[in-house]
Order: sequence, then structure tokens, then C-alpha cells
Amino acid sequence: MRYDPDKLVEHFSNPPQDISLADIDLDRIPRHISCIMDGNGRWATSRGLSRTEGHKQGIVALRDVITTAVRLGVDVLSAYAFSTENWGRPQHEVNVLMHLFAKTFIDELPLLKRENVRVVFLGDISALPQKTRDVFEYGLKECEHHTGMVLALAVNYGARAELARAARTIAEQVSAGSLAVGDIDENAVAEHLYTAGLPDPELVIRTSGEMRVSNYLLWQIAYSEFYITELYWPDFDKWGMLRAIAAFQHRDRRFGGLSAE
Ligand code: IPE
Ligand code: IPE
Ligand code: MG
Repeated sequence: MRYDPDKLVEHFSNPPQDISLADIDLDRIPRHISCIMDGNGRWATSRGLSRTEGHKQGIVALRDVITTAVRLGVDVLSAYAFSTENWGRPQHEVNVLMHLFAKTFIDELPLLKRENVRVVFLGDISALPQKTRDVFEYGLKECEHHTGMVLALAVNYGARAELARAARTIAEQVSAGSLAVGDIDENAVAEHLYTAGLPDPELVIRTSGEMRVSNYLLWQIAYSEFYITELYWPDFDKWGMLRAIAAFQHRDRRFGGLSAE
């Protein structure tokens, strides 16, 4: 149990009518919760604001979700921030996002330090603009000694690219003679993914109601439970997290076997 009971109760004070801390079993919090943060643009346009404002508000929501995950004692929180397909958006939006990623990492360093959060990136960050990469490298160093929750940020991430990359690395090891073909099993593949060493997500949350995976963690979500909410990401908060966890705890996870009951 890694959570601090006093901080946890305080964090969830003043609950809305439909959900409270009492609705979840603190002994069965998913170890790894993953968020597909979708709907920033629609949140903004529905208010007559620019998409940039939506992304800014999305960062505010992410901050709340990070703190909430820490309070709940989650081991890994991952979040899909930018897909390999998102390069296809207008250049201005891509630029805005790259700038916001760098700015946010710097702005949130005090939070990451205070909460002892270690950051890892999922995806090919070598393809990001130099300025963003420099900030990421600086930020990663600043938090590398942290021992608390892992925050895995998927930036320039695509599951198909990840699997192709794993296949390439494995093939290189085979041709170099350091890996036998017969030793390529599920663990060997998992070890070559960006998520190597992390548990698979038990719970995947997608906001804005879309019923799709959008090239996210295809290998790792083999047995994840999905929770889809109509809320746009900027409207998602700690109560949304509790609702998702409560729904997760009511699922009958069979893993291909038979129900435990
Ligand atoms: C999610 O919000 C953020 C990113 C993909 C970077 P969107 O920007 O996809 O918002 P919608 O889906 O257009 O509303
Ligand atoms: C998924 O959202 C990717 C991220 C949240 C970063 P998108 O908005 O890119 O997904 P699609 O286009 O609706 O599938
Ligand atoms: Mg979207």
C-alpha cells in the first residue's frame, strides 16, 4: 500500500452525489491505469474557444489525474498525448502541442518532485523538434531518481511502429547471434517494447466517447478492461477516475478462463 490515508481522504473530500471514495475497494486499485486523453478540440470548439485552449485545459485535467493516481497508490499511470498519426494535423496545431509538451514538463517539475513521480516516454522522442527533445531530456534527468509512481507519457507513439521496432531489434539480435530464434517468446517481445519492465494496463480509460483504440498499446491491452466516458478530456477529473475504478472493480475478468464465482 503506497498511499497516505490522510492525504487520500482529503483529496476526495466534497464528493458529487453519484460517487465517493467509499464506492471503491482500496485493496483492488489497478496497478496500471492508462488514459487515452481525447476530446480537447471538441471541448474547446463547443465553447467557442480555439483548439489550443482545449489542449491547455487538457493539461490541467492531466495534472489532476496525476495527483489522483498518486493519492490512490497506483504504480503506473500512462497517458496518450500524441500519436504517430497526429503528425497529420495542421502544422500550427502540431507546433502548439510540441511547445505545450515542453512547457508543461518544466512547469510540472515541482509537482513531479513533490510527489516523487518518475517519468518515462513511450514512443520515438528522437523525432520530436530539438527544443522539445532538449526539455524532455532535462526533465527526465531531474526525475530519474524518483521512486514513486511511474508516469508513462506516450508521445509520438504508435503501437504498430512499436511492434515493427521490436521485430527489428529482435532480428538484429538473432543475426548477431545473441538471441536464438527458439527463444523468441512473448516475454522476449514484451522486453523490446517501450513499456519494457512496466505491468500491462489493467484499466484503459478513453474520454469523449470514441469506441476505438487509435493505435494505442495494441500488445499491452490484450486483457485490459476498457472504460469509455462521454466526457471530453478537459472535463475528466478525480471523480471520473473513481467512476472508472468502480466500474473496473465490478468487471468479471476471466482471462479466457471461467468466472471465479
Ligand atoms: C486529444 O484531443 C489530444 C490529442 C490527440 C493531442 P483531440 O485534439 O484529439 O480532440 P478532438 O478529438 O479533436 O476533440
Ligand atoms: C488518440 O486521439 C490519440 C491521442 C489521444 C493522443 P485521436 O484524436 O488522435 O484519435 P482518432 O483520430 O479520433 O482516432
Ligand atoms: Mg481526438
